[in-house]
Amino acid sequence: MESYHVVGTHPELLPMFLDTGSKYDVWPNISRAMSASGPPSAHTDLDAPDPSAFPEGQAFTSFIHPLNGHLYRRLEENRVEVSRPDGKTGIFDMTGAHVEGEVVNADAHMCNWIGGMIAPGEEATPNRFAGASAQAFRSDAANARRDLMRPEWGDSIDAVSDADMIDAIFYSVFPNLHPWADFNPIFYRFRPDGNNPEQSLHEVMYMLPVPDGQPRPAPAKCTFLDLEDDYTKATEFGSYLNKIFNQDGLNHRAVQQGLHNHPKGEVIFASYQESKIRDFHMKLEQWLSSETAPKST
Ligand SMILES: [Fe+2]
Repeated sequence: MESYHVVGTHPELLPMFLDTGSKYDVWPNISRAMSASGPPSAHTDLDAPDPSAFPEGQAFTSFIHPLNGHLYRRLEENRVEVSRPDGKTGIFDMTGAHVEGEVVNADAHMCNWIGGMIAPGEEATPNRFAGASAQAFRSDAANARRDLMRPEWGDSIDAVSDADMIDAIFYSVFPNLHPWADFNPIFYRFRPDGNNPEQSLHEVMYMLPVPDGQPRPAPAKCTFLDLEDDYTKATEFGSYLNKIFNQDGLNHRAVQQGLHNHPKGEVIFASYQESKIRDFHMKLEQWLSSETAPKST
């Protein structure tokens, strides 16, 4: 529900994504997060978007972690070589487990990004980040998105701002619907898994506005994944988004175990960056402790 997790979960975004500058809003039944694409994270010492973090120009082949300089290089599926600036190396699997070599610890999220499964035919996906400045990056990325949509939308798409085209703007509608804004077509919905509080169902949908005067397309077919399936098996979304889901999924089991293991039995959220999550839990508590369901406002 926020961009605070990007530094730990999606390090490949740090060279071109302003997670640290995110804006959060909380309203009675809806909350929102907005993060700009293009400017590098303030966790790094970069002044401009840095495509050199991807030495081979491809998204899933190699990556230099911008915070420690460790080079992650894909050897084959489920095998990643990690090289530290001091020259020491180690081999890891796609979960971050050590296989061999002097380096024995690696970032599991980067091992999955570089060494994990890739949807068929997308192994050579180019690093999508380019541009000499944050502004050039933004213009290039927004224009590329407009060109994709021009066949359906015509030149009216030129009236839509760069932010509406490429920034991460997403809403959370209490309790469980997460529509991304504008022309980013992602919707998330989380549903209970029966009465089992340890798991939930994660649904991802793409929904684009239908241009004026055009017929609605037929309903899309659903793809179902089992609990242990890799998200890249849902090829409809392409590897980029699916590998983002895989990184997010790496956290779930550990977070759930951690919540059971907390000595005080309570969680303290960051004052601003996690305000959406705090608001969600306050509302949930209010609903669960009420004799009758409170009215949505
Ligand atoms: Fe994420």
